[in-house]
Amino acid sequence: MLYDHLSVNERGHLTIAGRDTVALAEAYGTPLMVMDEARIRARFRLYREAMTRWFGGASRPLFASKALSCRYLYRLAREEGVGIDLVSSGELYTALASGFDVGQAFFHGNNKTDADITYAMDHGVGWFVVDNLTELDRIEEEAAKRNRVQPILLRLTPGIDPHTHAAITTGQVDSKFGIAIETGQADEAVAYTLAQKHIRLDGFHCHIGSQIFEITPFCDAAKLMIAYVAQVKARFGYEASLLNLGGGFGVRYIESQPQPDYADSIRRIASLIDAEVARSGIRKPTILMEPGRSIVADACVTLYTVGGTKDIPGFKHYVSVDGGMPDNPRYALYQSDYTVCLASRMKDQPDYTCTVAGRCCESGDLLQENVCLPKPKRGDILAVLTTGAYNYSMASNYNRIPRPAVVAIRDGEVIPVIRRESFEDLIRYDL
Ligand code: LLP
Repeated sequence: MLYDHLSVNERGHLTIAGRDTVALAEAYGTPLMVMDEARIRARFRLYREAMTRWFGGASRPLFASKALSCRYLYRLAREEGVGIDLVSSGELYTALASGFDVGQAFFHGNNKTDADITYAMDHGVGWFVVDNLTELDRIEEEAAKRNRVQPILLRLTPGIDPHTHAAITTGQVDSKFGIAIETGQADEAVAYTLAQKHIRLDGFHCHIGSQIFEITPFCDAAKLMIAYVAQVKARFGYEASLLNLGGGFGVRYIESQPQPDYADSIRRIASLIDAEVARSGIRKPTILMEPGRSIVADACVTLYTVGGTKDIPGFKHYVSVDGGMPDNPRYALYQSDYTVCLASRMKDQPDYTCTVAGRCCESGDLLQENVCLPKPKRGDILAVLTTGAYNYSMASNYNRIPRPAVVAIRDGEVIPVIRRESFEDLIRYDL
């Protein structure tokens, strides 16, 4: 199997964390998202330990909660001693509702509204990651009103192209995010920020993109950012104490992709940072990272029930399931790779190449194409692997399809995480 928490039992059923997925689908209905809690915790620990070891004492991961924002995940992050990255007041509300200490949170976004800024300050969010100077003015104003000093980071664009899918590339100069170093605007922003009375500049942030397997772009970005810290010290006499390198490590969705060694990537970035720090003679900043996908993606599978199958002679075979783009829009949006298997008949011969389609009234509602399965029958359970990140958090109610239920397996027990939406939920806001 693609991962070691997945297996096949004597009945030929796919298992996750030792539990039979077909039995889970029967008990909880489909579509159903099932997560292996131990795997999520192990990833949090892997990041925490590797970062402490290679970057040094105060370094820590911040979970990029846009990957999967729900109370359960914030609780796990808290228990594992991990900070968080938030991008909206909605995520902040969810974190607060889980009891998370948002003094350990970093508030992102290229357009924080006045309401976001006020709400975040009311609740003592640790840092704003400031994206532009109009936002900075607003934060200064709000902090002055409260007679306090607000810590921030400036989000910079180091101009690195990680050669990933264009829609998920955010670190280049022409980006809606951040302030460019190359254009000299970062220097202006630093000078401007340092002149504010109610803002404390703690350092810088960058994020070069997502689902990146190569280590070189991360090393380049880290090097560039350290060089920038040194440049700012020389120009303004200001030394950054925090450097946040964002998220972006790739996740293995299909066999042909590599299984990244995250700890080793951290080690390699760290040795580059150490060399650059030594060369430039600055004090080493505390390094933060914001993994999202690589924490949750591969801990989860989504289970669907097969409905209709259809063979178009000379064309394709279609297998339709009871979910699709409402619970996982990533194939429709990015043609993302996924591994699909027939969870109810894992031991049968896969000899049927097909397109797995969702149930929406939209031809683009596909989950994957060119998938080879044993020929599915109505009622079979189909599993899409690696659905923990940017699936539920990007889900919609298109065609008034309720969002799925999410459960986790903890020590062999099923823990409810998110209740399945009901029809009543769907009309909750209709007047
Ligand atoms: N930090 C910042 C500032 C980010 O913008 C992101 C992701 C992360 C951290 C986490 O990156 P990760 O470790 O998860 O790669 N919806 C797209 C992904 C968008 C990512 C946006 N930012 C997808 O489904 O592939």
